Amino acid sequence: MNLQRAIAVLACVVLSALALADTAPEPDLKKIMQGLRNNTVSVLDGLLTDDFDADAVAVAANEIAHHPSIPGAQVQLVARELGAEMPAFKQFDQQVHDLSLSILAAAEEQDRDRAVADYQQMLNGCLACHAAYKERVAMVLNAAGDTETEYDNPL
Ligand code: HEC
Repeated sequence: MNLQRAIAVLACVVLSALALADTAPEPDLKKIMQGLRNNTVSVLDGLLTDDFDADAVAVAANEIAHHPSIPGAQVQLVARELGAEMPAFKQFDQQVHDLSLSILAAAEEQDRDRAVADYQQMLNGCLACHAAYKERVAMVLNAAGDTETEYDNPL
């Protein structure tokens, strides 16, 4: 392959990569959850190593608080399944949201005890929602065609 051809091929590869990045779909609930999981592990890691200076705890807590919203089509599927229980489902999300903000504030004040207590409560929120709704909601969303399970190591 001559140099010109090599450059042309390389340009094509780069352009298609950019085009793919541009059309990346919005994250579905499972992807959002995988992000929450990674950030939850990162917060714990920051707490275990007292890593307040590097902002590890604050940054990951902030990511949890501002996770992407669930795509509208999935919200509709969940709402149809849960009906009158939808507010309870949302309440768990709100609880995790509020506690992650509280962890963020505690981390910024280097208040280790409060950050740890809030973290434990936040985990209770994650697990309580899972106990009540994870299987049911996963079943509805899986039936709608989503099957991917994949973890990135956050550390
Ligand atoms: C409002 C309810 C709710 C809250 C709060 C919640 N989850 Fe989930 N989570 C779900 C549901 C529903 C699923 C199943 C999604 C699916 O399979 O499509 C799930 C799935 C998961 C999964 C499995 C993803 C996979 O690849 O199968 C992980 C990991 C996870 N959640 C982590 C967390 C963490 C960490 C928190 C707290 C920071 C949290 N979740 C809070 C409802 C919740």
